[in-house]
Amino acid sequence: MQLFHSPASPFVRKVVACAIAREIDSQIELLPTVANASPPALLAANPLSKVPCLITEDGVALFDSPVICEYLDSLGDAPPMFPAAGAVRWRALKLQAMGDGILDACVPRRMEMQRPQDEGRAGVVARMRAAVERTLDALEADLPQDLKSTGAVDIGSISVACALGYLDFRFPQQPWRGDRPKLAAWFAAFSQDPAVAATTPKEPT
Ligand code: BEZ
Repeated sequence: MQLFHSPASPFVRKVVACAIAREIDSQIELLPTVANASPPALLAANPLSKVPCLITEDGVALFDSPVICEYLDSLGDAPPMFPAAGAVRWRALKLQAMGDGILDACVPRRMEMQRPQDEGRAGVVARMRAAVERTLDALEADLPQDLKSTGAVDIGSISVACALGYLDFRFPQQPWRGDRPKLAAWFAAFSQDPAVAATTPKEPT
């Protein structure tokens, strides 16, 4: 398999963390990619010109991160990261949506913040920040699964961890832990998981 990859992308991080958790990361070749440069190979695989994009052994291009992670969950012998059915499945998918939603608000917000701030842009940035703050409050009130209690990572916990890691990486000037001690403790513990620890975001070289 091949993965269009950027070491700074939190969605790529999610995919790589899932591959490590499933012990299939050695089967994936990482293709360093600057998606904003629209390289032809990426466009041929993903018309949206976004990472992550996985090329399977069968030559099928898969995107975006929830699709790729669920595909990886169908490979290997590790315990499933996507619960098969019932309340635990919907909870894991909801937490995935909360983690991904934080990132959907943060990645464009960072770009908007780098541009001159007129009133309209400041309003958009404030609205995206408020969505993140509310979602963090909801996670503080209802934490993701505790690694120690289950010994396994699920897609909801990985997604939330990648979102919190991205906040630390790209928004250190906006600390999120102060009013959220339980979420901070959860993240500190979950960050010890080998799949999470091995995928700390980095600037591309
Ligand atoms: C970043 O540098 O923050 C970034 C890179 C790729 C995708 C998303 C975010």
